[in-house]
Amino acid sequence: MSKQTNGVLTTDDFPMIQTLEWTDSGVRFIDQTKLPTEETYVTCKTYTQVADVIRNMVVRGAPAIGVAAAMGIALGVKNSKAENGGDLKQEFDQICDVIAKTRPTAVNLFWAIKRIRDKFEMLRVRPLAQIKQALIEEAQRMHAEDIATNQAMGRHGATLMPASGGVLTHCNAGALATCGYGTALGVIRAAVEQGKTIHVYADETRPFLQGSRLTAWELMKDGIPTTVISDNMAGAMMKQGKINAIVVGADRIAANGDVANKIGTYSVAVLAKEHGIPFYVAAPLSTVDFETPEGSGIPIEQRDGKEVTHIAGRQMVPDGVEVENPAFDVTPAKYVTAIVTESGIARAPYGESLRRLSSG
Ligand code: MRU
Repeated sequence: MSKQTNGVLTTDDFPMIQTLEWTDSGVRFIDQTKLPTEETYVTCKTYTQVADVIRNMVVRGAPAIGVAAAMGIALGVKNSKAENGGDLKQEFDQICDVIAKTRPTAVNLFWAIKRIRDKFEMLRVRPLAQIKQALIEEAQRMHAEDIATNQAMGRHGATLMPASGGVLTHCNAGALATCGYGTALGVIRAAVEQGKTIHVYADETRPFLQGSRLTAWELMKDGIPTTVISDNMAGAMMKQGKINAIVVGADRIAANGDVANKIGTYSVAVLAKEHGIPFYVAAPLSTVDFETPEGSGIPIEQRDGKEVTHIAGRQMVPDGVEVENPAFDVTPAKYVTAIVTESGIARAPYGESLRRLSSG
């Protein structure tokens, strides 16, 4: 349970969850595949191990994936035995390639690789030790910036939350999906800090159960009242008047405001429209992909069908049945009431408002 100061929660009251961090012995991750029953950590000592933990979803969530990628590349460069700039460049490209092939939808991965690459190119003529140190520092800076970005997003987004009522969220867009505080859950945390009385409805989010395993775990730690529902209950909860607003994260937002997020988000958005409930997306500007004009151009990751056929290792469908497992869907911009970013709130037409916010 969180501490309370004069009955109002503050940022310091929320226990910091260390989703990932740079350490002297490698990049350390909380193992999200083991939550909520086991809180264990894994330390990656090589960049290929970092690529594996991204692919296997030990770390997941677009902003966390981005910073994991940056730290993974910095780790690969740190471990390099290259003796000259040319060899290091060759190795650098190979490291970036391996990291880039882990998960295709979250654009933060590619944003982070580009940022580290730009830094590398800028420093190429420097001594190797300096390059190594600078990349580590850049990755650590991205980690710190991500937390500050989420807190800024929280301050903007909290103004959209009801003074009191139910807020539904899908998947996990919290501290575990970022370097701390969260995007959608950051908005909820900030609203609670402002004295709003929020009751969270967390979709369980089949097939990987990020809502029931991760969102509920985080919010329980914070003492924010939470009810887990299975995904197919969301419509009934809306009809019963239990949901006053919806806030979700995003893996990639096209230039026109179409939003790729965890599979099932689209259904929630359509239901929200039917019930006249505002549907908000909270995401840093690094999640906006201005080079992809609309949602149909966003690559959707297809994951192993076993995530659908099995729950906690137990087979739930007959042998040989065909299954599909797209990890994300695209919600057209017309269903999105507003997009909360660290620079402010964007409203339709998003083509203009997102560009305005990103150009400062
Ligand atoms: O497959 P995941 O767990 O990486 O998907 C995560 C989501 O869809 C999140 O909602 C999104 O990345 C935003 S996280 C701040």
